[in-house]
Amino acid sequence: MAIGVNSLAFIAVAQVLALARVVMVLVWCIRFMGGLAWEATDKSLIFNIHPVLMLIGLVIIGGEAIMTYKALPLKKELKKVIHMVLHAIALVLGIIGIYAAFKFHNESSIANLYSLHAWVGIGIIALYGIQWIYGFLIFLFPGGSSAVRSETVPWHIFLGLIIFSLAVGNAAIGFLEKLTFLESASLAKFGAEAYLVNFTAIVTVLYGVFVVFSVLSQPVVVVNFTAINDEYYGMGLFIILFPYRTKARLQDLMTNSALRTTLEEWEKDDLLHKLISIKPVMSNNAESIPTF
Ligand code: HEM
Ligand code: HEM
Repeated sequence: MAIGVNSLAFIAVAQVLALARVVMVLVWCIRFMGGLAWEATDKSLIFNIHPVLMLIGLVIIGGEAIMTYKALPLKKELKKVIHMVLHAIALVLGIIGIYAAFKFHNESSIANLYSLHAWVGIGIIALYGIQWIYGFLIFLFPGGSSAVRSETVPWHIFLGLIIFSLAVGNAAIGFLEKLTFLESASLAKFGAEAYLVNFTAIVTVLYGVFVVFSVLSQPVVVVNFTAINDEYYGMGLFIILFPYRTKARLQDLMTNSALRTTLEEWEKDDLLHKLISIKPVMSNNAESIPTF
């Protein structure tokens, strides 16, 4: 399933939301909640590491990892390595972030794993780890057979989106839970901090929506034509090699594209035999680009 819209617009909006969210969560944890610390007598500073690492790790770096395929104009193999490394960083930050929540509970004599947020959180980190190991073994090293890869990639994408969406949803529940704790202590329900926390959660959810849209939308395809154009100048024959570049959505290429138009023009002028290569340089669906 794909939306017939260029993915770059979604990716651009997602970057703005990601930046806004990093600033918002840092302002909340540092300015309003007293800062971050791994060792402290004020144990709430240890807790503060939890939302910061969960948001920057699983949600933002995880989201950026997912958008790699659509966002970067690089070869598929390189994008796969970037996707893998970013997911590894996300996973490690997620594990440290959850450890910080446990550390805070243990040092404050609070029970562990009593909430829906905590249970779903453990499920998410376990699934994230399994998805990463499967991705690494099947798509990267040692790599499954091409049949296994092509049959399981839709599952990988589908499950990846579910795990990512659960992380986004669970982060929103986490904000709600912490804010409820703070409000039942003494925090003003309509105060600046309460608004900041609620808006951070809203921006988090919006970011998640834009990441999912980017996956469902069309990749931008840059086609590099290299044509030989020979022209006679006076007595001499000069062969000029020059590249044509055109940007189009995959859907356009399949139907009424700039590529086709150009090729038709060349055909009319009897220039088609001069086309020497068409290189899709920015597509993760190279195999579905028509070959001429
Ligand atoms: C992907 C995102 C997140 C995951 C996977 C996650 C996971 C977890 C886990 C597993 C625990 C249990 C720790 C224990 O029992 O000792 C926990 C606790 C907690 N988390 Fe998160 N968390 C996430 C994001 C957030 C965010 C953004 C906040 C916002 C403040 C938050 C607030 C809390 C709170 C208040 C607790 C302690 C109460 C409880 O255990 O439910 N979490 N989280
Ligand atoms: C070692 C780790 C991983 C490897 C090697 C890997 C590999 C891949 C490959 C080969 C694709 C297909 C790209 C295409 O042809 O369209 C893909 C897409 C995707 N992966 Fe992974 N993956 C890994 C980890 C993960 C994790 C942990 C998640 C999420 C929790 C995830 C979520 C996704 C999503 C949502 C897509 C779809 C991207 C798009 O089509 O725009 N991946 N991955």
